[in-house]
Amino acid sequence: MWLLHSTTFLNHHLKKSHAITCIRRIQSVPNQTLEPHQPFSKPVSVAPMVDVTDPHFLQLLRIISPSKKNISYTQMYHVNAIINREKQLERLCGPPEENTVVQIGGTDPETMAQATNILQASGFSEVNINIGCPSSRVQAGSFGAVLMKTPEKVREILTHISDIGVTIPVTVKCRIGVDEYDSYEYLCDFINSITNQTPVQHIIVHARKAWLKGLSPEENRKIPPLDYSRVYKLRHDFPHLKFTINGGIETVDQIREHLKVVHGVMLGRKIREHPMFLDTLDRELLGDTQKAELTEEAVVLSYLDYASKLHERGDMSISVLIRPLYNIFKGGRGKAFRRTIQTNLAKRDTLTFQEIVLGALESTVR
Ligand SMILES: Cc1cc2nc3c(=O)[nH]c(=O)nc-3n(C[C@H](O)[C@H](O)[C@H](O)COP(=O)(O)O)c2cc1C
Repeated sequence: MWLLHSTTFLNHHLKKSHAITCIRRIQSVPNQTLEPHQPFSKPVSVAPMVDVTDPHFLQLLRIISPSKKNISYTQMYHVNAIINREKQLERLCGPPEENTVVQIGGTDPETMAQATNILQASGFSEVNINIGCPSSRVQAGSFGAVLMKTPEKVREILTHISDIGVTIPVTVKCRIGVDEYDSYEYLCDFINSITNQTPVQHIIVHARKAWLKGLSPEENRKIPPLDYSRVYKLRHDFPHLKFTINGGIETVDQIREHLKVVHGVMLGRKIREHPMFLDTLDRELLGDTQKAELTEEAVVLSYLDYASKLHERGDMSISVLIRPLYNIFKGGRGKAFRRTIQTNLAKRDTLTFQEIVLGALESTVR
């Protein structure tokens, strides 16, 4: 039935020939036989999250999961930040670890290509482009989710990136739709146009649409309903591409189910709220059965070692360095830890950074 509804929409928004190809492809889905499914060798990734996946949080994740069996996305950086801070990239994005993907946002093809090239030259092995952020600030800059309305612009960016000789993988993170551009055919056409003869072969899809007017970014992560079946359908309809599914995924069982269909699963808030879940994933999903026992205390001490060096160098504020630790403990211990951090932060003029964290650690065993 949606085919009938969407025909009018398509006539308005898509080139007719593209639409017909897309509809044919969709109609053929039920009979299509898929090749045997092969998830990525590192199938779980931590989502890009502004003010969460900064270099320090990523360092915490490396302490929790040193075997690097997962992928971590940095928070989004505007391309101008990458270009202007080329000499301090490590401070901005963290070290170019093999399992770190830098997410960038922007709209100008030349600066997007220049920033990607800088990241490649600095040793980063993959770059992701944000086409899913609905914030009004990002919209005002004409990047993020609003770019889903102009696939030709995204294509231009991608073509520039490959024209200047970038060879590392470039991926896109998008939504299943944006505003009234939310039919499955539109999504297909979008994917077609951004992957056909461009470097993009892997797409991360947040399985809900974005409403650019009237919903805040937080509401845009809750209110539009999740529709995993659309991402599954993409996987069927574009068997030559790789897909990672994202949105509301929280348990090992859910991840297992998704990996029967798609190549990767991306977790955002779950890891923000419970970073130690990466340890569970290592053991229960990713085959690290020999991993030595890891306690929250050991993680905090190891992180403290890293963070106090930065703090001693005067490199970073206490609050930025402490932020990654907030959710390390769960339940009552978590409450005690956070409460003591807050109390100790108020006394930061008399307490050292180490005393603030060690005092909070002590409060978890009282
Ligand atoms: C605090 C916060 C910041 C976010 N910042 C970004 C961002 O920089 N880039 C991006 O593509 N998505 C961003 N997102 C969206 C997440 O990457 C993810 O798509 C979304 O949270 C849905 O996944 P989840 O249900 O597993 O959290 C952010 C989400 C949160 C909670």
